[in-house]
Amino acid sequence: MKTKKLTFYFFASACVLLIVVSCSKKEDLSYNTNSRTLDLSQNYSYDLGSDELATLGRVLFYDNTLSVNNSVSCGSCHKQSRAFADTRASSRGFENVETSRNTPPIQNIGGFSLVNMGVMSKGGQALFWDGRERILQNMVMQPVFNHVEMGVKNTGDLVNRVKSRSYYPELFSKAFDDEEITFNRISEAIMWFVRNIQTNHSPFDQLFRNAIVNDQVLNSQEQRGMNLFFGKYNCGSCHQLHSPTGYLPTGETDNSELLNIGLDQVYTDKGLGGITGKPEDDGKFKIPNLRNIALTAPYMHDGRFETLEEVLDHYNNGVQDNPNLDSRLRDISGKPQVLNISTAEKEDIIAFLHTLTDGQMITDPRLSDPFKKY
Ligand code: HEC
Ligand code: HEC
Repeated sequence: MKTKKLTFYFFASACVLLIVVSCSKKEDLSYNTNSRTLDLSQNYSYDLGSDELATLGRVLFYDNTLSVNNSVSCGSCHKQSRAFADTRASSRGFENVETSRNTPPIQNIGGFSLVNMGVMSKGGQALFWDGRERILQNMVMQPVFNHVEMGVKNTGDLVNRVKSRSYYPELFSKAFDDEEITFNRISEAIMWFVRNIQTNHSPFDQLFRNAIVNDQVLNSQEQRGMNLFFGKYNCGSCHQLHSPTGYLPTGETDNSELLNIGLDQVYTDKGLGGITGKPEDDGKFKIPNLRNIALTAPYMHDGRFETLEEVLDHYNNGVQDNPNLDSRLRDISGKPQVLNISTAEKEDIIAFLHTLTDGQMITDPRLSDPFKKY
């Protein structure tokens, strides 16, 4: 009798164990396609988009199917290890043609403004170097149809390409109510993935988010650099590191976050001026948010500077005069500034800029390429 009871308990607990194990086991989401396997055993925990939407967006972001000759994906130019930028001044699109501008990192985009969800009609975050788009869901589809980047002909063509892959119906039905594949759903899912690319784990973030005492996070050189950045050299008047976007959003489309830092006297790429057609906007570009800056060389909209030293040399004594040069980069007589930054100070500022690197974001498996080669 006793042994029977024991055997019963044994089997009962084994059954419970089995149920628990099989429930907690991640669903197998491996698909075979073109000798690549999809690994989707990740969970997103972003407040605003569901796990399933972000997962679908992740697959689309890394899928070469979204380029006309199956050669590039968003991830070809936007590499996770480089904070979703790359190491080239210009990147190569689907026909190996170079982009006219430097690929910017993707980070902290969209999560902070209802505009990017299309809820508000104006304001929001300037997107692209020249700020020509502010609605993230509209923005993310533009590379797909860009004749240099991915070259897909039209929305119908895109939808058919996505439909041609056997793994999508299931991913769409998990993300939406049914498995219908539409242009809007594609752009929405990519938007949610992009919104999940958030950096907030750098040493600098720990410092100001968690109000930790300076010297527990930054060493003395980094602290000196931080003080020079926000104090003496006033870099922080433009690069608002405390704002996730890197600048203060105005809520209006007044383009105040795009400005001219005197890279040239005459700009061949007119930046904002190329969009508005106004000469007073020539040479104005978006203020970059500088997060993960140590990973995103080369620098500026055209990738002209290879190193942070070169960037500092520019601010030190390389600023070119032109009518649109921002007043913050002029001295009191109105001439381009000459800062006389010492070598030691340059090293300090660069050490501080390295504290903006977020090791967690660039290794986060949820943001990684789900297509694994065999
Ligand atoms: C061939 C390289 C290439 C590919 C492929 C590519 N991009 Fe880009 N991306 C760029 C370049 C270059 C820019 C800057 C263009 C400009 O400012 O005019 C950019 C800008 C962006 C920006 C704006 C970032 C900011 O801070 O303003 C986002 C977001 C973005 N791309 C997302 C995507 C998505 C999503 C895809 C895939 C659908 C994609 N990109 C495919 C090169 C690429
Ligand atoms: C007047 C506003 C302003 C000030 C002041 C300013 N910057 Fe910038 N910074 C910009 C803008 C705008 C760009 C992008 C310009 C472009 O590409 O044409 C930029 C670009 C950069 C870049 C390259 C970013 C990238 O992703 O390629 C770095 C690094 C940088 N600045 C660091 C600094 C430092 C350090 C200081 C202080 C010595 C400073 N900035 C002062 C506005 C400013």
